[in-house]
Amino acid sequence: MASNRNFLIAAIIFVSLLAWLANAQLSPNFYARTCPNIQGIVRNAMMQAVGRESRMGASILRMFFHDCFVNGCDASVLLDDTAIFTGEKTAQPNQNSLRGFEVIDAIKSRVEAACNATVSCADILALAARDGVILLGGPSWTVPLGRRDARTASLSGANSQLPSPSSSLADLISSFAAQGLNASDMTALSGGHAIGLARCSTFRSRIYNDTNIDASFATNRRTDCPASGGDTNLAPLDQTTNHFDNNYYQNLVAQRGLLHSDQELFNGGSQDGLVRTYSNSYMAFSSDFAAAMVKMSNISPLTGTNGEIRRNCRVVN
Ligand code: HEM
Ligand SMILES: *[C@@H]1O[C@H](CO)[C@@H](O)[C@H](O)[C@H]1NC(C)=O
Ligand SMILES: *[C@@H]1O[C@H](CO)[C@@H](O)[C@H](O)[C@H]1NC(C)=O
Ligand SMILES: *[C@@H]1O[C@H](CO)[C@@H](O)[C@H](O)[C@H]1NC(C)=O
Repeated sequence: MASNRNFLIAAIIFVSLLAWLANAQLSPNFYARTCPNIQGIVRNAMMQAVGRESRMGASILRMFFHDCFVNGCDASVLLDDTAIFTGEKTAQPNQNSLRGFEVIDAIKSRVEAACNATVSCADILALAARDGVILLGGPSWTVPLGRRDARTASLSGANSQLPSPSSSLADLISSFAAQGLNASDMTALSGGHAIGLARCSTFRSRIYNDTNIDASFATNRRTDCPASGGDTNLAPLDQTTNHFDNNYYQNLVAQRGLLHSDQELFNGGSQDGLVRTYSNSYMAFSSDFAAAMVKMSNISPLTGTNGEIRRNCRVVN
């Protein structure tokens, strides 16, 4: 018995140590000596991009989420199609939808000019997403660094691992659980919809067919999203689309979620309480969001000698 227990304790310590070692490879100071100005370079470029178009803060945040959920935060989403493989850009959740690739290209070329062949595209995207949120009035967090870039991408992964706007609450919880994120992380991260826009094709069935929707909100949204046609017409994900706040959760409580998946978070299920908390407290939301972003940014990074530091974010070296 005693030796069984000792073995168990030793095993737990060993596994914790492994987990700690794996994590310890990402560090906020990773480029302190090799590219000390990396944070400033990314911040300035994002300031310009968001200054030109506010929505870009949202678009880059989403790009990072779509990177991390497909084989980890490894910049796979940035790869263009080649003769050898088809990348993730034409996956259903990404095609004609993900935007801002040229912003990442512009940041990368500034970074290469300052620190040749040193900073990964995966880290640039992680920093740029954080800065996009800050620039639209959201919280800040410390980004762990040291990710390396994938040498391949997964179209099938992008088609199967990213949650769909028609998801039920159970679908959403299991899609995040598959990434090591729990239901509360999922509810906090969904607050990414505090900023940005969605196409009519993603919320049409919600505004015509869902019953848990505020009637005047549905009527309003239908004016720009006909029952057929107008697929690419845009609507804001909350009422303050360029401001990162808790209005998203206030809308959910009022049955004014734009996506079916959004309203699933407040539809009599397990996340109602947390949605209500966030609707009442920007502080509670923003601090949980920041913590969950760090957790998401740690999904399966390539570290050490795995992967590479891509020179051009769109192509493998
Ligand atoms: C919970 C599951 C999620 C689903 C089903 C979902 C689905 C969607 C859909 C359908 C759109 C509209 C895309 C389009 O019409 O082109 C969208 C936009 C967006 N999503 Fe999500 N999303 C989810 C979670 C997240 C998370 C975790 C984040 C970030 C933390 C995020 C950030 C965004 C942003 C910022 C936009 C607006 C992008 C822009 O304006 O360019 N989403 N999402
Ligand atoms: C940048 O690094 C690459 C790879 O190490 C090298 O081939 C190239 O000459 C370098 N360019 C400059 C401008 O230093
Ligand atoms: C989810 O994880 C976070 C931190 O990783 C933790 O604070 C929170 O209590 C967890 N929530 C649930 C429902 O397990
Ligand atoms: C609403 O649901 C019905 C029955 O499932 C379906 O035939 C119809 O196409 C849906 N309409 C929209 C706009 O999604």
